[in-house]
Amino acid sequence: MSKRTEIAQLLAEPKIGEKVTVMGWVRAFRSNRFIALNDGTGMKNVQVVIDFENMDEEILKKINFHACLKVVGNLQESQGAGQSVEIIADEVEILGSSDPDQYPLQPKRQTMEFLRDKAHLRMRTNTFSAVFRIRHAVAFAVHKYFNDNGYYYLHTPIVTGSDAEGAGEMFQVTTLDLNNLPRTEDGKIDFKEDFFGKATNLTVSGQLQAEIGALAMGKVYTFGPTFRAENSHTTRHLSEFWMIEPEVAFFDIFDDMDLAEDFVKYLINYVLDNYPDDLAFLDQRIQQEEKNMPKEKRRPMGLVEMLRFVVDNDFERITYSEAINILRNSKPFKKGRFEFEPTWGADLQAEHERFLVEKKFKKPVIVRDYPKDIKAFYMRMNDDDKTVAAMDVLFPFIGEVIGGSQREERIDILKSRMADMDIPEEELWWYLDLRNFGGAPHAGFGLGFERMVLFITGMTNIRDVIPFPRAPKTAEF
Ligand code: 4AD
Ligand code: MG
Repeated sequence: MSKRTEIAQLLAEPKIGEKVTVMGWVRAFRSNRFIALNDGTGMKNVQVVIDFENMDEEILKKINFHACLKVVGNLQESQGAGQSVEIIADEVEILGSSDPDQYPLQPKRQTMEFLRDKAHLRMRTNTFSAVFRIRHAVAFAVHKYFNDNGYYYLHTPIVTGSDAEGAGEMFQVTTLDLNNLPRTEDGKIDFKEDFFGKATNLTVSGQLQAEIGALAMGKVYTFGPTFRAENSHTTRHLSEFWMIEPEVAFFDIFDDMDLAEDFVKYLINYVLDNYPDDLAFLDQRIQQEEKNMPKEKRRPMGLVEMLRFVVDNDFERITYSEAINILRNSKPFKKGRFEFEPTWGADLQAEHERFLVEKKFKKPVIVRDYPKDIKAFYMRMNDDDKTVAAMDVLFPFIGEVIGGSQREERIDILKSRMADMDIPEEELWWYLDLRNFGGAPHAGFGLGFERMVLFITGMTNIRDVIPFPRAPKTAEF
């Protein structure tokens, strides 16, 4: 391939009068004369002007939506409005043609549902290339934040023998022949015959192993894929999603909340500072989409405005018990508008979380000290013997983005919690060892990566912020 100039570079430092070579996909073709070309290096297209009267008929016919071109020409100041420079093409070569009668996408607005079925092509649209550039930016910012703050990146296993969350929503990993399973004498499946010599699953969280890291290296984090076989068909759940889990020795629940707030603000700021074009495009897209909606369905502010609002304000911090009180005294509860009654002891429902965040406080809220019976075995028991030192960070539109806790470091209490929840000690002997030998108070949390990207991009369905979504009955690409 001959040398090419990347379009982002060309637009950032235009060298007027120079001969340039660019390659990219046709985003639009107007008046048989103006091509908007994009190579993925940024939101902005470069305008290519062709002399169609002197152009080879065959090539002209092939300049269609999303065809791939190589263009050689002179960079000039643009005569038209909308762009400052343009390329006056000397040569146009078709690298990959795209028959408009066959091509599944059209050069017009298409629904997200439609594009989801075309995941191999949707990244060529403005919306999805912006989303996935921002997804990259958030991932990069995660590593930068932790590296700059002295955390070590720990790779935790994807195949595991334990159920970290105790929710039992795991995908089994096996090489056993499902049509001919080995059995023990009492008729159960004999997992000793399985690949790892025991029953194994895809991990739901790297936390338990991250605790091993924290109790040796002080500050660690994981960032990896996690898998949950919950049969949720919501706009907030995936079966395969990525989670970021910092774990820190000598942290209590308050340190944990401070870290969570500082961390998510950093991620948002990073995107605001470095990806303004993509954000501006997504902001406009939402406004377009909401134009025909009734006022009460529209978002209270624009995307960028909302991101700024979140980074500029302290998150509200309340206890679960306070949250229940607020909800029970709220207008929607008194008027019977909640589907689920807010009762002490029951999990907060999405409608409750949204009320707290969007109506009551109008900013992110951190709820802590949840009833022990609705939380995992490893969370530290509070002095009231009823609640545990757990915290959830709730965001507008999204609900829970972070779930975390201070961990139970007291071996007796941990063992009795495990017994209460029917978790066999043999399965987690190494986890108990951490408390038996040089244990320490520690805390951590898990940030749902896609939920964060969902918030920053203003998209409405989590399946549109991961390149190839996995959800019940969905694993095509
Ligand atoms: O609250 P969760 O279940 O917490 C844990 O797994 C802890 N082990 C984390 C820790 O303390 N180290 O999950 C953490 C976050 C949630 O707040 C949510 O943002 C996201 O992971 N999450 C999901 N995201 C997409 N699809 C799903 N099915 C998700 N389930 C949880
Ligand atoms: Mg949670």
